[in-house]
Amino acid sequence: MNLFDVYPINDVTIVKAKGSYVWDDKGEQYLDLYGGHAVISIGHTHPHWVKRIEDQLEKIAFYSNSIKIPLQQELAEKLGRVSGKEDYQLFLCNSGAEANENALKMASFYNGRKKIIAFNKSFHGRTSLAVAATDNKNYIAPVNESDNVIFLPLNDEEALEGCFKKNGKQISSVIIEGIQGVGGINVAEINFLKKIRSLCDEHGAVYIADSVQCGYGRTGKFFSHDFAGVDADIYSMAKGMGNGFPVAGIIIAPHIRPKHFQLGTTFGGNHLACAAALAVLEVLEEEKLMGNATSVGKYLKEELEAIPELKNVRGRGLMIGFDVPEELKDLKKNLLWNQKIFTGESKPNVIRLLPSLALKKRDAEQFIDSIKEEIGLLVGQE
Ligand SMILES: Cc1ncc(COP(=O)(O)O)c(C=O)c1O
Repeated sequence: MNLFDVYPINDVTIVKAKGSYVWDDKGEQYLDLYGGHAVISIGHTHPHWVKRIEDQLEKIAFYSNSIKIPLQQELAEKLGRVSGKEDYQLFLCNSGAEANENALKMASFYNGRKKIIAFNKSFHGRTSLAVAATDNKNYIAPVNESDNVIFLPLNDEEALEGCFKKNGKQISSVIIEGIQGVGGINVAEINFLKKIRSLCDEHGAVYIADSVQCGYGRTGKFFSHDFAGVDADIYSMAKGMGNGFPVAGIIIAPHIRPKHFQLGTTFGGNHLACAAALAVLEVLEEEKLMGNATSVGKYLKEELEAIPELKNVRGRGLMIGFDVPEELKDLKKNLLWNQKIFTGESKPNVIRLLPSLALKKRDAEQFIDSIKEEIGLLVGQE
């Protein structure tokens, strides 16, 4: 049997990882500024994370949600404290798409409505509702097409107001990434998020903060939406939550009450997943990684802004993107093969940096030296 070929891949086999570094099967070392797509939050194979999972594995790895799992409550309390959303309620699942699917569904159960507002260039996942709210026709199968999703331009307050005016009481929810990831690191403006909050309040709609990529401390705040100083009704989270262990969730504001059987899952919140997620939060706090994301992110952004060839450097904390002009189109590839540095991308011309939140300043410095060197070589070739 062959694998179902769904992605173009880099010709490299990683066999070992530690902190912000990975090694291939030939022993070559790479600096990882991609974090396996923003997943590695506390650093690859962090010893505390490994130990917590190993210890749990010795006891019990899985049992279904038909019994008490105190680790879930422990996780809910810890997550509430670290995120500052102590009065929210946690529902655990397994992936970002599933988290958003449940968030959109919960909003519709709550207000009995069907319409969803999403934004141009959004990415919310590949399951039916999440993909319907994703602005990329290539991902949407005919069966997922829905008249219930309205796409609006990001940060356009007038369009948002107009849409609420027209559709008023039909709008169930507004779903927005605090910083669009797949779409190319586009930051939702503070006033725009405030406007979403006030329009949702006015019209009885649910504000859903997709924090799957931009959350979990990556921007220096636990949720990047919180830069706006207003709360969302539901936050979805995944990637950084387990540092590579598949675990995801939504947290739901207290006014949205649960009803048995509206949501459910077999694997979500299993013992092993909770142990991994707890280990991540413990390290995040212990090693003050949100502060590190702020300071190393600031350094990277300032250094990148000073490189004249790179345009429109943007993002927050350790979620940074910049535009690469046509003459430097090989930059990402050259960083990987010449400098042994993994970065992310966003088509057609954006490089994305999504490293571990424990990225050291000296690694950031190495990246800046390397990118300058590669730009110099590419400019010299013209
Ligand atoms: C903002 C956002 N939401 C949702 C998802 C979907 O997450 P998953 O791939 O875990 O289903 C992603 C994945 O890239 C994402 O970036």
